[in-house]
Formats: sequence, C-alpha cells, structure tokens
Amino acid sequence: MLSVKQLEKRIAWISLAFVVVLLGLSALAINLFHVGLPTCLTDIKPFQKGELITHSPTHYELHYVARMWKFEPEDVTVPAGSTVDIYLSAADVTHGLIMLGTDLNLMAVPGVVNYARVKFDKPRVYQLLCHEFCGTGHDRMATELHVVDMASFAAKPSPPPAAEATHPGYKVLDANLCLACHSIDGQPGIGPTFKSMYGQTQKLRDGSTVTVNDAFIREKILNPNAKIVAGTFEQDMPKT
Ligand code: CUA
Repeated sequence: MLSVKQLEKRIAWISLAFVVVLLGLSALAINLFHVGLPTCLTDIKPFQKGELITHSPTHYELHYVARMWKFEPEDVTVPAGSTVDIYLSAADVTHGLIMLGTDLNLMAVPGVVNYARVKFDKPRVYQLLCHEFCGTGHDRMATELHVVDMASFAAKPSPPPAAEATHPGYKVLDANLCLACHSIDGQPGIGPTFKSMYGQTQKLRDGSTVTVNDAFIREKILNPNAKIVAGTFEQDMPKT
C-alpha cells in the first residue's frame, strides 16, 4: 500500500511524463509534418486596408480585413506552388476566418493581428467563411481564394484597382460605421438602405406622414425613436 506522499510523487512524475510526451509530439508534428502554429502578432499594427502583396512569384503576403459582413480583399487569385502569409485584422467587431480544405482557422479580434502561413500546391477554389457570430449578416460573410496554375496566373491581366468611393458623404458614412447597418445599394440590412431614401414620403406608426429631408434624418440620428416609421421598431443608434 502506497503512502499519500508516495502517491503524490507518482502522480507528479506521471504528469511530468505526459507534458514531456505532449511537447515531443508537438515538436515532431511541426518538424515532420510542417504543421503551422497560428501566431498572435501583437507587434504588427492592425490595418484597415485589405491587399495582396507580391514578394516573389511564389511568395505572397495577404492582408485580410474582416468587417461587417465581408472579407477584404475579395476573390484573391494566387498561383499554385505559392506560399501565402495571411494576416488578419478586424475593422469593427470580432470575426473568425476559416478556409475550408486547409488548416487555416484564425480569429479576427479588434486591435490584434493574427497570422498563419498556407502553402498552396494545386489549383483549386477555396471557400473562406466567418465562423464567429458577428451580427445579422454573419451567415453571408464569405469569400473565395482562387489558386490557378502558374501559366494562367501569368497570363491573367492584373485587375484594375478598386474604385475608391470619393464622395465626401460616403467617407462620413464609412468613418462612422453607418454602412455596417445601412447599405447604399438597396441591399437589406439591420437599418433601411439609403438608396433612393432622400425625399421619400414615409408613413409613420401614428398614421401621419413625413418627408425624408435633412431635419428628419438629423432627428433620426439624434433621437431615433421620436418618429417611428410604420412597420419598424424602436431602435437605438450607436453613439460613435
Ligand atoms: Cu463575421 Cu461572423
């Protein structure tokens, strides 16, 4: 019969052996099977612009920005045989990024940049999804990464730079995160779309009508529940 002291010693040795075996297996997996460990890079400043940076024909750096409810840049193309360093930043709330068919699984946390390296051997289309609930548009937050053979990649004309919205009003909407809930192209969101809204006559819950003009928009922002449009609910506007 073991004394309590001997039993404690035995448990301590077994635990130590377990930790050593675990570390050994991890080292083996990293060296033998090239399993990449996701890293949290706190020394890299979070970025707001998604882009694909070419270091060499087989080495790319991909900066993904996760924002409600898309990943930027969308539909990236790289050649087969390339190594891609993926950096992930969040523009608003916490999102996740998983690439089906690979080990890539990162969190997009505001204020932090996460990193993983992926090597793409064969041509294929990869689906990327957000796996962290991030609001009403979470289920459609997805994009694709295309891996094509080197010849068709070289033949592909480089895409024109994305047209930047330069309207000063758009910049205000973007800077204040209005576009997280309101679209400008008619897409439904948490809030009504801004498309064709200005000048419309809206029916209110109390039966009266109102014209969407500067005064009404201002009141809606400052005191959103003063006049409620028929068929909608009381809503708070985020104070940014
Ligand atoms: Cu982003 Cu869910």
